[in-house]
Amino acid sequence: MQVRIMSNQQVVRVELGERSYNVVIGSGVRTQIASMVPSAAKRAVIITQATIPFSVEESLVAAGISTRTINIGLGEEFKSLSTIEMILRECAQFGLTRNDVIIGVGGGMVTDIAGFAASAWHRGIAVVHVSTTLVGMVDAAIGGKTGVNLAEGKNLVGAFWQPRGVLCDTDALASLSPRETRCGNGEMAKYHFLTGDDLLSLDLNSRIARCVQIKADIVGSDEREGGRRMLLNYGHTLAHALEIATDFSVAHGEAVAIGLVYAALLARELGRIDDQRVVQHRQVVEGEYGLSCALPAGVSHDELIALMHSDKKALSGLTFVLDGSNGVEPVSPVSVDAVRSALSRMEVR
Ligand code: GLY
Repeated sequence: MQVRIMSNQQVVRVELGERSYNVVIGSGVRTQIASMVPSAAKRAVIITQATIPFSVEESLVAAGISTRTINIGLGEEFKSLSTIEMILRECAQFGLTRNDVIIGVGGGMVTDIAGFAASAWHRGIAVVHVSTTLVGMVDAAIGGKTGVNLAEGKNLVGAFWQPRGVLCDTDALASLSPRETRCGNGEMAKYHFLTGDDLLSLDLNSRIARCVQIKADIVGSDEREGGRRMLLNYGHTLAHALEIATDFSVAHGEAVAIGLVYAALLARELGRIDDQRVVQHRQVVEGEYGLSCALPAGVSHDELIALMHSDKKALSGLTFVLDGSNGVEPVSPVSVDAVRSALSRMEVR
């Protein structure tokens, strides 16, 4: 799969037959929104948040599309079925038809919610994502995973619903907090281990495009996560448990960084890799991407293990994506003893 470079923007195609779509990366690409909505669309419901640095309303109105903007709450507690109900009721009141479109403008939480609302409204209408965070651009907005949380766990309710297109407007990155940038780096470090690519040698647009390309290749070959797509969860088994155990005070990308180093320690525990490869994981995550690899003090190992047992990826016992002589691959079941022993080898801060 090639990245097409056009002046100041790059285009990656996600190949999914008749549901294929473009991901456009670059400064100001949000103004291309009208070209991505269905030609029959007369209305657009825009789902966003008060903190998002720009809007696509003006470009849509200029193209003759009526808009209704819904600001959803900030914080993981708003990634809920109540938010979906509120959005769908607004869609009803606005008269959104199945020819129309829902547009998510924001980070991963916004695009997950927008995609899920679109998958459910009138049994599925078009959705376009305008991604405004690094995590969203390199991961969440691409590949059609949508959903919300339940009290029992993260992203437990959702659907695979591919967007018609994704705009990654890099103008938004200037307003990201250092923490949000770090979170994007956590996901990028994951791609480093999936491919061995030296992503940091690329300029930012090319680095985002390369991550999108890696993800697009994987999604194109395994849209519904029957096998290969599980690789995208490298570092995520511990990460999801850690997010929940800390009540989301450890953000997703930070948790992924810790989870990558944990996955290396677990692979070492199982004899899949050597000490040198564990050191490499620390060096990349901490040294190159500038992320902490340490578990926060006070997090109970028992709680983490219980949460990892209920991970939705787990089919039989504890399931991890682990490095080894064949590269990174899903491994299941993994013994609780190995999981506990690797946890005890983690640094604590
Ligand atoms: N974020 C992992 C995936 O999209 O499969």
